[in-house]
Amino acid sequence: MSSAPAIRPRRLRQSPALRRLVSETRLHPADLVLPIFVREGVSEAVPIASMPGVVQHSLESVKGAVAEAAAAGVGGVMLFGVPETRDAIGSGATDADGILNVATRIVREEAGDALVVQTDLCLDEFTDHGHCGVLDPSGAVDNDATLDRYREMALVQAASGSQLLGLSGMMDGQVAAVRHTLDAAGFADTAILAYSAKYASAFYGPFRDAVESTLEGDRRSYQLDPGNRREGLREATIDIEEGADVVMVKPAGGYLDVLADVAAVSEVPVWAYQVSGEYAMIEAAAMHGWIDRRRAIVESVRSIRRAGADAVLTYWASELATWIRNGD
Ligand code: PBG
Repeated sequence: MSSAPAIRPRRLRQSPALRRLVSETRLHPADLVLPIFVREGVSEAVPIASMPGVVQHSLESVKGAVAEAAAAGVGGVMLFGVPETRDAIGSGATDADGILNVATRIVREEAGDALVVQTDLCLDEFTDHGHCGVLDPSGAVDNDATLDRYREMALVQAASGSQLLGLSGMMDGQVAAVRHTLDAAGFADTAILAYSAKYASAFYGPFRDAVESTLEGDRRSYQLDPGNRREGLREATIDIEEGADVVMVKPAGGYLDVLADVAAVSEVPVWAYQVSGEYAMIEAAAMHGWIDRRRAIVESVRSIRRAGADAVLTYWASELATWIRNGD
């Protein structure tokens, strides 16, 4: 009796050309967004120890990073500010001369129409307690008072030239509050990227070094419990109803189920943020020679796209875009 299989899926895997032709998920530079840190008061870029290859830029060095991203065809940059001084309400965030807003003006000028300039809209880099919002007298994050701060931030960021505001604070009602304020102030065309399903993750560790976070404690009263899948979809649904132009799942690699759930129903683009810890793990393993760096990077981002992300925020955006452009 012959045991020859009648069905042979391997047939389509026989040559590189055939595999390329039937590939379901392609990477394109325009689907990548580069997160960039800009630090106040430095004259040149400062390396970030826990994120080898990533730096805190100066207002001068950031121009080169943006030019490089644009040349590689990257779709956008997401700016984060690292201020010199912090206070309880995060005053630097709403100061037109605060580091993030100054950087936004410079980057917008440098970028022209080559890519989309985006800004992190959250207070954590600017508060002395490190939380994403302002605190009430008991020390708890005050949701509704924080919305007023986000409204102010939105106006300053939009006026500074940010084209897409990245609402990453996980306060209830933040999308509706910011949308309403922007519209009332003549910024109807400034778009909102809602970090909708943002989980309270250990994988933000290196980022907190990058922004020199002063946080003590954790963000579990506002970011999602890593075990909750349904709630991620719920948050995205609420943000779409409130007027989000793009929704995001974060981190990416550990949350591909949530990403697939959101992508299955979303009427707006769905993005994912491959966060600092995801970056650091691959870089560290590669440095030890324990993993093939380039293959691991491509596979990790491709998996995020396969799960349903239309675009991916990744610290490898410029490098990866260059590889894609070179056809490998
Ligand atoms: C909050 C913010 C965080 C990240 C992006 N926006 C940190 C946090 O919630 O603690 C994490 C990004 C990363 O880890 O790469 N402003």
